[in-house]
Amino acid sequence: MHHFAYRNGVLHCENVSLEAVARELGTPAYVYSDATLRRHYRVLADAFANRNTLIAFAVKANSNIGVLATLASEGAGADVVSGGEMLRALEAGIPASRIVFSGVAKTVEEMKLGLERGIHQFNVESMPELLRLSRVAEEMGKRVPIAFRVNPHVEAGGHAHISTGSAEHKFGIAWHEAETFFEEASRLPGIDPVGIAVHIGSQIMRVEPMRAAWEKVVALTRRLRDRGFAISRLDLGGGLGVPYKDGDDPDSPTIYARTAREALGDLDVQLIFEPGRLIAGNAGVLISKVEYIKERDGRTFVILDAGMNDLLRPALYNAHHDILPVRIPEMGATRSAVDLVGPICESTDRFAKDRPMPPLKEGDLVAFMTAGAYGATLSSQYNSRPLVAEALVRGDAWAIVRRRPTFDEMIALERAPDWITRG
Ligand code: LLP
Repeated sequence: MHHFAYRNGVLHCENVSLEAVARELGTPAYVYSDATLRRHYRVLADAFANRNTLIAFAVKANSNIGVLATLASEGAGADVVSGGEMLRALEAGIPASRIVFSGVAKTVEEMKLGLERGIHQFNVESMPELLRLSRVAEEMGKRVPIAFRVNPHVEAGGHAHISTGSAEHKFGIAWHEAETFFEEASRLPGIDPVGIAVHIGSQIMRVEPMRAAWEKVVALTRRLRDRGFAISRLDLGGGLGVPYKDGDDPDSPTIYARTAREALGDLDVQLIFEPGRLIAGNAGVLISKVEYIKERDGRTFVILDAGMNDLLRPALYNAHHDILPVRIPEMGATRSAVDLVGPICESTDRFAKDRPMPPLKEGDLVAFMTAGAYGATLSSQYNSRPLVAEALVRGDAWAIVRRRPTFDEMIALERAPDWITRG
């Protein structure tokens, strides 16, 4: 469910025409829907309304301050993986008490920042990290609530690059070491071991592997409680997939929520979820303009002004995004197979190969659908292209939530070394 649809022949986000946004903001640009973000957050929040639950939006999916502030106003927390993401979440109005810090390589500075701000918990992924965190907390005179991220050895669908739950992956502590880790943690002065976390991957279409992981975690919790460890929180991760194309049919958030409830039974814990894509995925599109149509060797290349630096997913994961013309094609227009490519000097700068598209010409606008998660956050300035702009729509209104940098801003941090400038 999302709020992008054709009206009077033009693709709209809520009540705002994407042509109007492109005219004012230029392209390429991401456009997000306030109503879609809120709806997705609420579907999950409502499904757990009668339980002590923290829905911590995975900031890596979309870290725009406008998007985070929207979710903050719904009561969302944040799952962050860097000091920068933590500061963004705080800046957007997400209270520290609703922030969870995940990730395999937290630095001393990031630990200090989290401790100073008093975040809800750190998800710890290794013994050296545990010892470092305890030392940092002790030096600051604090005792920090942590969960151990366990690797449940559950294989989950998704793309190989975004699957995380088996032994070969760098994530989490080994399943069979959990008890030893809790024993060690409860001896450390700076650490308050309160929870277990699990996350088996992203874009997972079926809840069954999640159920398997969650059931293992519930059994582990009971075992640890029997041994006297006071486990009061379970972080069940993110990962539920979204449809990117016709025929994609992921299990619904309702099934996801029911499965979580079933796996938990009467276990009395605070539940934490870290959804990213589920909330932001189809709440955003990337709009782009056709620069050229190039016919060569029997192929048609539709050359866009968006490149892999603006939307990396197709180049990185061979990911599919539906690409719609912003102006609806005329009735009976025939589709022909084209390659949609960007301006970057890389052969992987190709969004789609042999994609049937209605007729397109120079200056036409297209929209990459389901680009709200891992779109702008994976963007770069490769080829010295300005970082992609972002807009947020609410009903009839829209706002620029990230403007394009100027050239001066892009090079402001750089300078030629003295030995050149001295002549
Ligand atoms: N929690 C942890 C610990 C994670 O590593 C992730 C995603 C999430 C939550 C959120 O997962 P989600 O609900 O969004 O599936 N760039 C890739 C996705 C990478 C996901 C990384 N971790 C893509 O564009 O498909």
